[in-house]
Amino acid sequence: MIRGGRPLRGSVSISGAKNSAIALIPAAILAESEVVLDNLPILSDVAVYSEILEELGARVLWDGNQMRIDPTHIRSIPMPNGPVKKLRASYYMMGALLGRFKEATIGLPGGCNFEPRPIDQHIKGFEALGATVTNEHGAIHLHAKELRGAKVYLDVSSVGATINIMLAATRAKGATIIENAAKEPEIIDVATLLNSMGAVIKGAGTETIRIEGVTELKGCRHSIIPDRIQAGTYMIAAAATRGDVLIDGVIPKHLEALTAKLLEMGAHVEELDESIRVIGQPEYQHVDVKALVYPGFPTDIQSPMTSLLTQAKGVSVLSDFVYSNRFKHVPELVRMGAKIRVEGRSAIIEGGPLNAAKVKAADLRAGAALVVAGLTVPEGTTEVFGVELIDRGYDHLVPNLRALGADVWREMEE
Ligand code: EPU
Repeated sequence: MIRGGRPLRGSVSISGAKNSAIALIPAAILAESEVVLDNLPILSDVAVYSEILEELGARVLWDGNQMRIDPTHIRSIPMPNGPVKKLRASYYMMGALLGRFKEATIGLPGGCNFEPRPIDQHIKGFEALGATVTNEHGAIHLHAKELRGAKVYLDVSSVGATINIMLAATRAKGATIIENAAKEPEIIDVATLLNSMGAVIKGAGTETIRIEGVTELKGCRHSIIPDRIQAGTYMIAAAATRGDVLIDGVIPKHLEALTAKLLEMGAHVEELDESIRVIGQPEYQHVDVKALVYPGFPTDIQSPMTSLLTQAKGVSVLSDFVYSNRFKHVPELVRMGAKIRVEGRSAIIEGGPLNAAKVKAADLRAGAALVVAGLTVPEGTTEVFGVELIDRGYDHLVPNLRALGADVWREMEE
């Protein structure tokens, strides 16, 4: 429930990155002793992952922002159903279990279904390493006598495929080279953890990653990078409400594409060492935005950005070149009075005021877009349904917004 129209003011601390955490937790399976993850975000996706690991026999101690994972007694039991179905990133269990046990059965992943999200590049990588991959009644079964290093050229720079191949390749014989690898900061974070565990990975963050297989990995302690998508959402909310917010505990370089767009629109943005201050302005210029792979504008921020662009003068065009149809937030924004039409991969947005309405989050980032939109509406109460999807990726969103002065609260659906 949002009674908007109040500028957000103050500071907000950003938690660790969801898309790192849900790759680092399965990566811990590859170790023979305890892995400690610090700066863990408190999210429902993290809770589901800890459930998956416990089901496999790991000891998981989750205390606030720290998780201790002892995978000593873990086994590769088949997981065709159950918690793996709740999460898209359960596909990382394939690479991690294949690497450690040369065998895995994992139900096809769930998660945000904004459009078909194939995993053919993951499978191509596992096969190149010598695994046989079959689809048995909706569960992927992988096994290999031994994993051998190989050269894998990804047809698309997929974040998931890059990490998954890296996980399996750490325990393969010889060298694996991933070409056209994704370059997202979360990939560097996973490589950093694996290297601390004793893996030999070079080039993470570039388009060529080289992994020398090792026979054993050990436990270690690792602090997760800040969540650039949560940070970006607060930056957008600060601009949209004409507020003044210090977003703290971030790596400003990870947010350069968004910072550049906010400046182009006319917002004031100050980059400090580990924080970014956004000062909103009464008027914004229209801009065109193209969501691309990193270091381009992140697809995960394009939905909240759509809401901000309703506040700009004139017509903005926002295109997503990562996903062809990630626009489930648009019909809901239209219910709030937005003038937006979708043409192919683009949303064409004509600036204008929004009104309060009852709207429904179709996926995680669509939900964030509706919250940002609601915060701009000065009269009435915007009711966002389906907020459990927002819990998948935003740590303490409501308390954080309240601390910034927003009139936001949560009600249970009857
Ligand atoms: N793709 C393929 N084949 C594959 C894999 C991907 O064709 O085997 C295509 C996808 O259809 C898409 C593009 O490649 O068009 C990029 O997909 P990618 O594999 O990079 O996405 P992902 O790994 O499934 C992660 C994040 C997403 C984020 C994307 C892009 C996780 C668990 N998810 O997904 O995060 O949008 O990278 O940056 O890390 C979110 O946080 O809301 C979210 C959806």
